[in-house]
Amino acid sequence: MPLKLAMKTILGVYDGHDAGAALIHDDEIHAVNEERLSREKYHRGFPEKSIREVIRLSGLEGNEIDKIAVAGIYRNKKRLLKLKNGLKEIVGDVEIITVNHHDAHAAGAYFTSGWEKSLVLTIDAAGDGISSAIYLGESGGLKKIVESSYLDSLGDFYASVTEMLGFVPMRHEGKVMALGAYYTGEEYHDFADCIEVDGLGFDNHLEVTGSESVKELSEKTDFPLNRKEECSNVLRDGKKDHELWDEATKIAASAQKHLEDMLDQLCENIKEDDEIKEEFKEDICYSGGVAQNVKANKFVRDNFQNCYIFPNMGDGGLALGAALYMNSKLNDDKNHWNWKESLKSVYLGPRFNTEQVETVLSEEEDLRWEKIEDVADLASNMLTEEKLMGLFQGRMEYGPRALGNRSILADPSNVELKKDLNQKLGREPFQPFSPTILEEYKDEYLVAPSSNKFMTMSFDIAERAKEDLAAAVHVDGTCRPQILKKEDNKTFYTIIKRFEEKTGIGAVLNTSYNLHGDPIVCTPEEAVDSMKKIGLDALFCEDYLIRD
Ligand SMILES: [Fe+2]
Repeated sequence: MPLKLAMKTILGVYDGHDAGAALIHDDEIHAVNEERLSREKYHRGFPEKSIREVIRLSGLEGNEIDKIAVAGIYRNKKRLLKLKNGLKEIVGDVEIITVNHHDAHAAGAYFTSGWEKSLVLTIDAAGDGISSAIYLGESGGLKKIVESSYLDSLGDFYASVTEMLGFVPMRHEGKVMALGAYYTGEEYHDFADCIEVDGLGFDNHLEVTGSESVKELSEKTDFPLNRKEECSNVLRDGKKDHELWDEATKIAASAQKHLEDMLDQLCENIKEDDEIKEEFKEDICYSGGVAQNVKANKFVRDNFQNCYIFPNMGDGGLALGAALYMNSKLNDDKNHWNWKESLKSVYLGPRFNTEQVETVLSEEEDLRWEKIEDVADLASNMLTEEKLMGLFQGRMEYGPRALGNRSILADPSNVELKKDLNQKLGREPFQPFSPTILEEYKDEYLVAPSSNKFMTMSFDIAERAKEDLAAAVHVDGTCRPQILKKEDNKTFYTIIKRFEEKTGIGAVLNTSYNLHGDPIVCTPEEAVDSMKKIGLDALFCEDYLIRD
């Protein structure tokens, strides 16, 4: 009998910031984050809609679930009661087991990596009193060898810098990463007296976190904390001649450099550690909120032969991580764990059939729509005609990246189009777009690329990308590509292939299908509605072409 991914049917749940649910059953994974269903970005709280949705997607009844794995051990009485009562109402009396926050991060990465043996690293702001941990993953088991307390938090350091510059901590860290690239000076703030690597963990010399840490960091950098709102407005408006622009980009660049240096140092310490066997020093799985920093991830990648980053690396991925952790605990016979079954795709969410799409379109009065035969041909033509278009198909992606099923596409060489799109989406002008690159073009466009099908790492661009990908690279000459193989998404691949045949460019600009600040669209209604709000020229929704 072939090995299965899961021997039991397990529902994974996370009811904190960026809540969600996942269900593993035989060889199937269904997973969705509550924000996509509630339409409340980073939805916090009991994920009722997600739980109902993953059960519906599996075709099972609630009472067919063997166990419930809940990510996170500590919660107050009110939250605990809501969780227990909510679960009972949906699935009945099923045993609930809690999984440590970092164990869930680690399991998400290790059990979807497809590797039998690997080092596993988790770093975030904090969860269950821990902010980073290292595990040894072997034959379907995870063994934690070290952890850092919530106080010694690398994630909190970066979140504090985010807050200091007037952005929202735990949410806008990507903006700080993007801004750092604009700094052109040679002097950096030295944050070594704030937080440093200590062996296989971190040591926070400030001995405070959150708002107290923000205060200390502002004193250290002479940053006027009373002007932080003004600062974020200056940055959002891209006022490069403003004094706060220089100060803020210097701080952002310094924080980014410090984060990168510390990851580099941590990886070096891992490699030099005599207690860790050499066989665990080849491959690394990495997850946790800090792994969202695609630029810093380069420093983890460069220290190991292979680096796999869990695609839903923030707390949004904890539900699946908890389910996979529980699955491994229930399968004491290691042979039951099919470790070769790596995560083939993140298309794990809801899908909508032709009938559902037609129902939505039939109520549409302002737009023209038609059923079409050859999506790829029409879509690639439109890309050559400077059109901005939505691509909505199949199951929604699990995790922060749109990988061709809920995406907005454009010609990646067209810088004017990029400006237009940035404005239409309401994004800040300093934020870069990313490309999806055909697998066969990765060496043409990137320096030393590795597999990056889930858009989890950034790379330096090669000479040819300067022109071909002018609208999808950052000011520092890096980009965060999705590297696409035909078997991973046939329709998306074929659109880009046809575009390549017409233009010689083996990539498209690919950004998530949502207005800035909104969750990515989930349903055909939301896709049509957002098409109008954004002002897209066209939407390819399953077999239909919709135009304004
Ligand atoms: Fe976390």
